Amino acid sequence: MSVRRARRRSALRSASAAWLVVALSLTGCGGQSALTPHSGPARDIDKLWWWMLAAAAIGFFGAIAMLAVAWWRRRKEGLPWLGEREETTNSLVIVFGIAVPVVVLVSLFVVANLVVAKSTEAPAAGTTQLSINVVGRQWFWEVRYPGSPAVTANEIHIPVRTRVNVIATTDDVIHSFWVPELNRKIDMINGRTNRVLLYADKPGVYRGQCAELCGLQHAHMAFQVIAEPAARFRRWLANMAAPARAPQGAAAQQGEQVFMTQQCASCHTIRGTAADGRIGPDLTHVADRRTLAALTIPNTRPELISWIRDPQRIKPGNKMPALGLSNAQINAVADYLAGLR
Ligand code: CUA
Repeated sequence: MSVRRARRRSALRSASAAWLVVALSLTGCGGQSALTPHSGPARDIDKLWWWMLAAAAIGFFGAIAMLAVAWWRRRKEGLPWLGEREETTNSLVIVFGIAVPVVVLVSLFVVANLVVAKSTEAPAAGTTQLSINVVGRQWFWEVRYPGSPAVTANEIHIPVRTRVNVIATTDDVIHSFWVPELNRKIDMINGRTNRVLLYADKPGVYRGQCAELCGLQHAHMAFQVIAEPAARFRRWLANMAAPARAPQGAAAQQGEQVFMTQQCASCHTIRGTAADGRIGPDLTHVADRRTLAALTIPNTRPELISWIRDPQRIKPGNKMPALGLSNAQINAVADYLAGLR
């Protein structure tokens, strides 16, 4: 194989690899995609994206076509074509080099900054029925419902077809809060409050993700927005607001003992008990959650046990240390937590 052919082949291979990455990220391989919108603002972003792609594709393939024509003409000297006359060449440059790009870029700029920026912007004060505070932490999302004692983590329940004002702040690290199927992303910056409108057309679970490199656990900063019918949301919120259930059965009671006496309680809050730590997530209703550690693992008994045994193996850099509990103690704590519905 000639050097030239080998080079061409390797270029083709890297180009197709790049396209594969692009295609996978667009189809929402990770369970979320800005191209499957489920709200008005997300639909506007999606439309703008397709228009930008179309404009960029026409520009790109237009330029490639021009290059091809030039290359072809160099090989076959004397072929007739438009550019024989100087005025024609000049008009081609003016039309495709100046006029078309200016019109396309200005229209995209206007649509993006006046239309889409408007439709996706934070809701004006008093135009939403519900506000939720989301606080970025190392390394989870704390979720609070103002006016209710409910505090949860990594799973944001909202009523469907309701305008929800998400008030985003951060405690100790910069994050970017993004639910691509519902709206644009917003930054969580120390000392600042940013807001974003969440609205879901239909019930469902919409995955969110931190969209800005924030440190060791950036890749494990995911969350879910669970949109559900209003009545079910109200029942859920009432349950979240209630203090923790008392442990049922000997194993769970022993687990509560372990929890309160072995450091767990100094980092986690369980409302209705003596545990009032503020470093880790509130565990008052932890069994209600589908996942643990910002969607790193499903909330099942075996996963919970491996988490308690060695949290740093599952999520390096998080603030929970392995406490060196015995197997019996870990099992008892898992029994206790499983009862916190
Ligand atoms: Cu938080 Cu990346």
